[in-house]
Amino acid sequence: MKSVAILLSGRGSNFLALSDAIERGEIPARIALVISNIESAPGLQHAKDRGYKGLFIPSKGRDREEFDREVVAELQKERVDVICLAGFMRLLSSYFVSQYPTCIINIHPSLLPAFPGLESQKQALEWGVKTTGCTVHFVDEELDHGPIIVQRSVPVLDDDDAEALSHRILEQEHKAYPEALKLICEDRIKIEGRRAWIVGG
Ligand code: GRF
Repeated sequence: MKSVAILLSGRGSNFLALSDAIERGEIPARIALVISNIESAPGLQHAKDRGYKGLFIPSKGRDREEFDREVVAELQKERVDVICLAGFMRLLSSYFVSQYPTCIINIHPSLLPAFPGLESQKQALEWGVKTTGCTVHFVDEELDHGPIIVQRSVPVLDDDDAEALSHRILEQEHKAYPEALKLICEDRIKIEGRRAWIVGG
């Protein structure tokens, strides 16, 4: 059984999807800790309401590595195996990534490598793509960059605006993230270069 931490900065709907799947017994994991760098993040409140250990660690105005060292110290205290970034609005330092090689995953609302960074749904609409989606990937030091674990596609409709498209992508995020975490917690992912393979197909 893996010990999982979730790092978030906002709404926390992906945290809820992961926690639902874990509580239903679909993923061999326990949530050891939820950390937010934003005190008022609804996701942090959801975590506390569900009885998880929830910590606010302020990041504003602080050196990136100083903040990361404080986060890593908390993760080590709880002997965390896997870290899920779920709307965590910070790039991780090389120190953080080096402490948890291939143990940190993120969800992004586009089919990477298309539309990294902010407002991916708006970028997709502006570019005029017909299909977009979401990606769960390993985290390295570059933004939205590491090996891809799971992707789910979403059609872009003619009358979509950013809100409608984001909503349909989010529905797929809530399936893709538990699916990816389950594969990791079952030790079914092998990484070779940029490619993450599912062991056993
Ligand atoms: C999601 O769209 C996720 O893909 C992106 O940030 C958003 C977080 O939403 N990284 P929530 O806080 O999980 O509801």
